[in-house]
Amino acid sequence: MSELRVAPSILAADFARLGEEVASVATEVDEIHVDVMDGHYVPNISLGNPVVASLRRATDRQLDCHLMITDPDTYAPQLVELGAESITFHPEVTDDPRALIAELHDRGARVGVALKPAHPLAMVEELLASVDMLLVMTVEPGFGGQAFREDCVPKVREAAAWRARLGASFRIQVDGGVSVEMIGAAAAAGADTFVAGSSVFGASDRPAAVRDLLATARAAMADGERHGSLRDPEPPDRARS
Ligand code: DX5
Ligand code: ZN
Repeated sequence: MSELRVAPSILAADFARLGEEVASVATEVDEIHVDVMDGHYVPNISLGNPVVASLRRATDRQLDCHLMITDPDTYAPQLVELGAESITFHPEVTDDPRALIAELHDRGARVGVALKPAHPLAMVEELLASVDMLLVMTVEPGFGGQAFREDCVPKVREAAAWRARLGASFRIQVDGGVSVEMIGAAAAAGADTFVAGSSVFGASDRPAAVRDLLATARAAMADGERHGSLRDPEPPDRARS
């Protein structure tokens, strides 16, 4: 089982003071989650290349860019060149997600694919052997501060079962509404990477908020392992055919 990670989402930070905001959590985390929104894929515009370039100069933490944009083929390689270590895109917007994954790997990035709440795991199953991460959205993408959707947790469990069956090691990231109250459900289902915006940047003691999230996730994961919910007794049906 891989080490658990919390990735604070700067969407909930003060954009006028981004360097200080990132520094306020940097001691606790390996990566910072950077939500790139273009006003087309989602009804919101957040930030783009110049901000990622500035962040790269401001921190030595890894930049985990989540692209909620309609043209990742153009912008994902540019973000890697600007210094992003990890790129996650929503694969339904590209004609050839495999080619984009290969290109980003060639450039040295880790690559993830993302599923909106309505999108089934079947949409990305063919890609999972080639990626470093699956992002299971637990809110409708576009805005921070929404409530965690518990109806997305079974998809996390399904993905963990699929990962075990493939013998693969891709991370399972959950993103949206992750709080100390909800993180346990995702961790017990097999998620290992937790994006947290409001629950970290909205806290009065941000480092403590990250530590609380991690401790809660670790306890829930250990519980999940004890009760066998992280094991895959039966392979998923589709895998049998
Ligand atoms: C939503 C973004 C999330 C968001 C998470 O479209 O992908 O990363 O910033 O923020 P919270 O934790 O506030 O839901
Ligand atoms: Zn995100």
